[in-house]
Amino acid sequence: MVGILFLVGIISQICSNGLGSFLSDPNFRNTVRRALDAQPGSGDWSQTVGQCRDQDQCETVEGICGHEDTELVSLLCPIKCGHCVCEDSLSTGGNCSSLVPDICSGELAQSLCAKSCHVCGAPEEEMTTTAPCMDNVVGLECADLDPCSDPIGMIVCSRHCGICQDITIPTSPVPAVTCAPPWTTIDKIGCYPAEIVFLMEYARSDSLYDVYWEGSFIREIIEEWPISPDYIRIGLVVYHDTVEESIHIGDFDNKADLQRRIYEITSSLRPSGRANLANALNFTRQNSFVGARPDVERIVVPIVHEMHAENKNDIPAAAVEIKDDCMTIIGLIVNSPSIDYTIVSQMVSRPVDQFFYNYRNFFEMETGAKYFYSLRC
Ligand SMILES: *[C@@H]1O[C@H](CO)[C@@H](O)[C@H](O)[C@H]1NC(C)=O
Ligand SMILES: *[C@@H]1O[C@H](CO)[C@@H](O)[C@H](O)[C@H]1NC(C)=O
Repeated sequence: MVGILFLVGIISQICSNGLGSFLSDPNFRNTVRRALDAQPGSGDWSQTVGQCRDQDQCETVEGICGHEDTELVSLLCPIKCGHCVCEDSLSTGGNCSSLVPDICSGELAQSLCAKSCHVCGAPEEEMTTTAPCMDNVVGLECADLDPCSDPIGMIVCSRHCGICQDITIPTSPVPAVTCAPPWTTIDKIGCYPAEIVFLMEYARSDSLYDVYWEGSFIREIIEEWPISPDYIRIGLVVYHDTVEESIHIGDFDNKADLQRRIYEITSSLRPSGRANLANALNFTRQNSFVGARPDVERIVVPIVHEMHAENKNDIPAAAVEIKDDCMTIIGLIVNSPSIDYTIVSQMVSRPVDQFFYNYRNFFEMETGAKYFYSLRC
């Protein structure tokens, strides 16, 4: 209720200030900041290359670097407009000397020791992967802002302003079953009673660190959730070429025990094999919700970093069966050259942009866990 009043406040303020004045509104600034914060790849506002990321539309929108609002410019297009500093990440204490050269050949070079490894600049795969494009406002509607005549407004509201160049989202086939639309979107996960099953990938292309960070992410994301038999219950399925259930919903009533168990599981997994997500989705549908409470949402949260050409085309069909069973799919996608965003968009619940996040790497997913609570419910 307070949230609604707050929003009404913002919107009426914007309207009374007249069109175009949104840039001077501190609430607009905060909402962009929050949206970008929640968007993986934007780090935590340190303008450090490696965490520094441009919105895709920075390439095409003219006049952005000369815009007088340098604060927003440096948030939206820090690389293009020269606001990034090449530093090692704070989590190494800014001191990578003991880790070089070993770390520089691996996936962590960019996110941890960009300066010491001389890999400043956007990672290669970032250049070739197009993530879906969304409006980056939280709790505001771009349609209320009249943003499209301003370069910052265009970048923040790129979908609204029609400058997205992203994947086309295929139209959904007519659903065989009618389910109530899910109320738990990715922004609201953890807010309502639910059975939530995470699918953790540990394939050959994942490092031990990656798996550690998956577990750490899950432990952190549930930290502020009400875990109890009558609120949120958590299940965990681990998959690569095979799939197995590690935790069944309801196995743990106590959050600390649950987190400890997740830690033990991730510490014992050894990445290998080829990820077969379709198989994992099928398994989850058939096994993970046995004993689920009938009156709460059932949510499947696959963490996906590898989609092999050999089996990725089975994913949409396996996902459709889950959704036809009135379960929700919220995807956590960790970029890699094999990720196929058309398949991602066919897999997750709809509308697509409310049911997945895209992360640049596992480290970013882990550091992004903190955005899943406090602001959202
Ligand atoms: C970085 O670490 C090395 C070796 O652990 C140490 O000799 C050096 O003083 C450290 N540098 C800084 C700036 O802390
Ligand atoms: C998933 O299950 C469906 C039907 O139950 C089946 O047709 C499909 O082949 C299965 N996919 C995989 C990868 O096992």
